[in-house]
This record gives sequence, C-alpha cells and structure tokens, in this order.
Amino acid sequence: MFDLVRQLLTLRPEDETTNFQNVARLVDFLKDYGTYPPFFEVQQGVNEPECVIDGRPYIMFAANNYLSLSGHPAVKEAAIRAIERYGVGPGGSRVMSGNVEVIVELERRIAALVGKEDCLTFPTGYMANVTVFQALMGSYLGRLPYETKESVIFIDELIHGSALDGCRLSPAKTVTFGHNDLEDLEARLEEHASMGNKLIVTEGVYCLEGEIVDMPRYVELARAYKAKLMVDDAHAIGVLGSRGGGSPDHHDCADGIDIVMGCMDKAMGGRAATYAATRP
Ligand SMILES: Cc1ncc(COP(=O)(O)O)c(C=O)c1O
Repeated sequence: MFDLVRQLLTLRPEDETTNFQNVARLVDFLKDYGTYPPFFEVQQGVNEPECVIDGRPYIMFAANNYLSLSGHPAVKEAAIRAIERYGVGPGGSRVMSGNVEVIVELERRIAALVGKEDCLTFPTGYMANVTVFQALMGSYLGRLPYETKESVIFIDELIHGSALDGCRLSPAKTVTFGHNDLEDLEARLEEHASMGNKLIVTEGVYCLEGEIVDMPRYVELARAYKAKLMVDDAHAIGVLGSRGGGSPDHHDCADGIDIVMGCMDKAMGGRAATYAATRP
C-alpha cells in the first residue's frame, strides 16, 4: 500500500499521460481498500423505507425524502399533469426558448416560502453552490459585481462539499471558521474587518449532526461586520418553520439572511435547487 501511495505522490505533474494512468491506479487502490464510493442501483422502493438493491431487500436510511413527498399520490398526479401539458422538458435553454411558465411560478412560490423577493432554479444543489460564489465574489467588469482582491468568504469547517468546491472556484479569499463556533467567526471577521466584500456561509441545519444553528446570532454578526449572510438551507426547507420555510421562517429572520439556498431533493422529494434573494 505505502509503495503505491509513494509512487502516486512522486509522479511528475507535467506528464499528462502519466497523470491519467495515475487515476486508474488510484481507483484500483481505493477499490482494493474498500473505500471507492459504490453506485448502488436501486431497483424498487426509491421512495419507501424498504428498497431492493441487486435483488435483495434493504431498509433505506440514506434518503432525505423527509416528508415522503416523492411518492405521494397528489405530487405524482401533479407531475403527470405537468408532463401532459409541457412534455418532459422545454428542449431549449432558459435564455432562448426554455423559460417555461411553470418554472417561473415555482421560483415565485419558493421565494415567497423563504421570504425573499425572487429566486433562481438550478438542476442540483451542487450546481447551485459551485455557481453562486464565482458569480457573486468575482469581478467580471471593472469593480462589478465585487472587486476580487477585497472579497472574502467565511465558511464553516463542516460546510457541504459543494459549497467548498464553489469557494475554490471563486477568486475571493476563503477563510474557514470552527464548526458553528460563533466566537471563532467573530474573530475571523475582526481580522478581515477592512476587506470590502464579506460573505458568511453556513447551513441552517447540519444534517449529520442534527444541529439547528443559532441563526439570529449569525444575522447579528453579519450586520455588525457589514457582511452578507448566505444560508444553505438544503435540510431546513420543508422541515423547519411553521410554513416549512426553513431557517428564515423558523427564526423569523428573512430580512437578515441575504441569500437562501434550498434543495428540492430533500424534504420536497424531487430534484433541483434554488437560490433566493432580494432583487438587485
Ligand atoms: C447541505 C447540502 N448542500 C448541498 C447539497 C447538494 O445537493 P444536491 O444533492 O442536490 O446536488 C447537499 C446534498 O446532499 C447538502 O446536503
């Protein structure tokens, strides 16, 4: 094992062919040590607690279909009605011919649910999170949207990998604070107080730990240090709040959260993701 790791580490980075060969060897290595992520093929029971994989029954603990909406008869019926009306897709990008009214209506309703003015959908939560940081925290035209050398993103050390990848793609400086450690966040904000554009990123609910964060305190810190606050509410929308509106609803602080990210493949039981915010 150590020989292979040593070989992988000493490979010449300038030799592309060798690096491609290296990927195959890394995959073999991970398979040999049982750490290569398997892609199970679920044959039955996608929406139910019991599912069938490779012909064998299992109990599914890995889904996020918190409200069992994915297989709910009313939801299925609505999806079938939509397919009858619109087909399975518009066959064109949104900026050309594909801005279908049902998507616009969905965005209007999600924005209302989380208490923001408007909303934009993405195919998945991953795509949403790898898009937003480069779009908001990089300057494309003069000083717009933000001048990069003055931009800093503060992220929780346990933030979802998609947000982490998004920060890597952004030209802004990324600063990590201890998990849900508001004192540490404040210290990092203090250190970067002179930076012009500051964005704090947290999740409303950390699903693996089962924690609901103290959102009002995040709002206070964002206001005190003139930072924007973005909340990945993938595991909060549909679960928290009297209307299921996630963190803004539960903590009654929609005005204090600048950007609310939501995933429709968790409590909503479907697919896609959204970013909701105030209009520019
Ligand atoms: C907190 C959080 N953000 C983002 C994502 C990415 O969402 P998706 O699976 O739709 O790509 C996930 C996925 O589980 C998540 O848990």
